[in-house]
Amino acid sequence: MLKMIPELNKATVRMRDRGQVETIIRNMQREGASALQVISDFDMTLTRFAHKGKRCPTTHNILHNTNLISEECKAKMSNLVAHYYPIEIDSSKSVEEKIPHMVEWWMRAHDLLIQQKIKKVQLAQAVKGSGAKLREGYKSFFKVLKQNSVPLLIFSAGVGDILEEVIIEHGVFDPNVRIFSNYMDYDENGVACTFKGELIHSFNKKEGALQNTHQFVHDRTNVLLLGDSLGDLDMAEGVQDLKNLLRIGYLNDKVEERREAYVSSYDIVLEEDETLDVPNAILNYIT
Ligand code: C5P
Ligand code: MG
Repeated sequence: MLKMIPELNKATVRMRDRGQVETIIRNMQREGASALQVISDFDMTLTRFAHKGKRCPTTHNILHNTNLISEECKAKMSNLVAHYYPIEIDSSKSVEEKIPHMVEWWMRAHDLLIQQKIKKVQLAQAVKGSGAKLREGYKSFFKVLKQNSVPLLIFSAGVGDILEEVIIEHGVFDPNVRIFSNYMDYDENGVACTFKGELIHSFNKKEGALQNTHQFVHDRTNVLLLGDSLGDLDMAEGVQDLKNLLRIGYLNDKVEERREAYVSSYDIVLEEDETLDVPNAILNYIT
């Protein structure tokens, strides 16, 4: 197996139980592409965490490099990140402790975005110049899924409207791709006036999945799950009759501090790996 997937020997890869990973991948390979689906987080999982030493933007922050939002709004959004992001990734706090802060962060950020009177028609152009970047190897990732008709559900606590523009810009919004995220609602002039539906934040994806099973594909029992937050681990809870689940976690930040928690919960942990090499190698082996 390791001969078949040499990428699993990369220095960035950690596994709690290599034998178990091999068993899951072998089962998935036996059942092939027709039994497979991929469920992935978006920000900092399909997109890069850093590029040339600089942090890359999340969907909430992509508009920072554009003139769609005011300088004042940018400053306020940056202050929110500076305050709440350390709480999001704090390994000394429990999820229960973090949740009220996350809700507050998302509400405040969404209020700020709505105040900016963003026009739907301006989004595509704005995202184009924003420096949003999918991880290295994204073309091969989307291509193998498309060619094998493997559904990809992108389950994101980011901003769906912006996420869509990012994948359109990269030319990979294929028919097998579905998105479950926070979408803006527009008034009759095409101006964003509110966010639709229940809020999705980093730590309520399990609830979101269980309450929205219609967003999921149910006739494919094998799931490859990709995430970067411990809140992404339960994204496959929305799938009925799940048989084989392989969870790959990107550990982007505070690596030493969080290694133990990641290795004990994700099947494969990728440390400071800005590529999709490992998921691609596994997909190529299975399909
Ligand atoms: O797509 P994903 O579920 O990863 O999107 C959520 C990410 O967006 C969070 O991990 C958080 O760090 C980030 N975020 C942000 N600005 C906000 C709210 C969340 O950058 N206002
Ligand atoms: Mg993420």
